[in-house]
Amino acid sequence: MEIREYREEDRTSWVRCRVLSFMDSSYFDDVQNYREEYENPVIQIVAVDQDQVVGFLDCEYEEQPGDVCYFEGSIGGVIWHLGVLPEYREHGLATKMWNMAKEMLKDNHVHRVEVWTQDDPEATRWYLKKGFVFKEAYLNAFLKGNPGDPILKKFLNQSDCGELYGIRNLNFEAPIERKEELAKICYRLHEVRIYEAEI
Ligand SMILES: CC(C)(COP(=O)(O)OP(=O)(O)OC[C@H]1O[C@@H](n2cnc3c(N)ncnc32)[C@H](O)[C@@H]1OP(=O)(O)O)[C@@H](O)C(=O)NCCC(=O)NCCS
Repeated sequence: MEIREYREEDRTSWVRCRVLSFMDSSYFDDVQNYREEYENPVIQIVAVDQDQVVGFLDCEYEEQPGDVCYFEGSIGGVIWHLGVLPEYREHGLATKMWNMAKEMLKDNHVHRVEVWTQDDPEATRWYLKKGFVFKEAYLNAFLKGNPGDPILKKFLNQSDCGELYGIRNLNFEAPIERKEELAKICYRLHEVRIYEAEI
């Protein structure tokens, strides 16, 4: 098992690992079949077993305050991707990747990191144990059903849509204060939370 920086030849294996690592989390439908390019400097760490990526951590960071982070302040980084294949979890791989990323961030004068994550207990516990502090949240809400349903009519003005058979998925973001109201009508509802850590 090796913890090291991402290399171009990891691309396919990285993309596969990300899909499989999110399958049992609330990000199961956030399927990406590509490796994004970042506009700012980025630290990309992987855990590799027999040439296959089994864990990954990407943290993009700022050279100027405001380039990447949500909160204003000293220059910071944002963890955009973190995951470990289910069968490799609880062996300290995410911790090792984070420790390596932290040292590299500090070498680049970054002492503050943010992360957006949904309400998965495993990931939440991991971030809290690493010293991340909850800051704020909003809702990721999902509705579906027959176009005639009063609830869908309330959310979607269908008079200009033409004939619809059904709404497969109406996915929207909403203020956290609407959680109780939306929980009654959504088939999926996640808190999207931002955490911050000093490193
Ligand atoms: C969150 C996630 C990345 C953690 O990965 P991981 O490699 O299992 O994390 P670690 O091994 O560093 O820590 C996990 C647990 O294993 C424990 N652990 C660490 N080394 C261990 C070892 N050698 N033996 C047994 N347990 C160990 C840790 O104490 C920790 O337990 P705790 O949270 O009760 O303290 C992983 O669960 C995951 O990929 N989840 C799905 C994707 C996801 O939700 N990503 C975040 C979205 S932003």
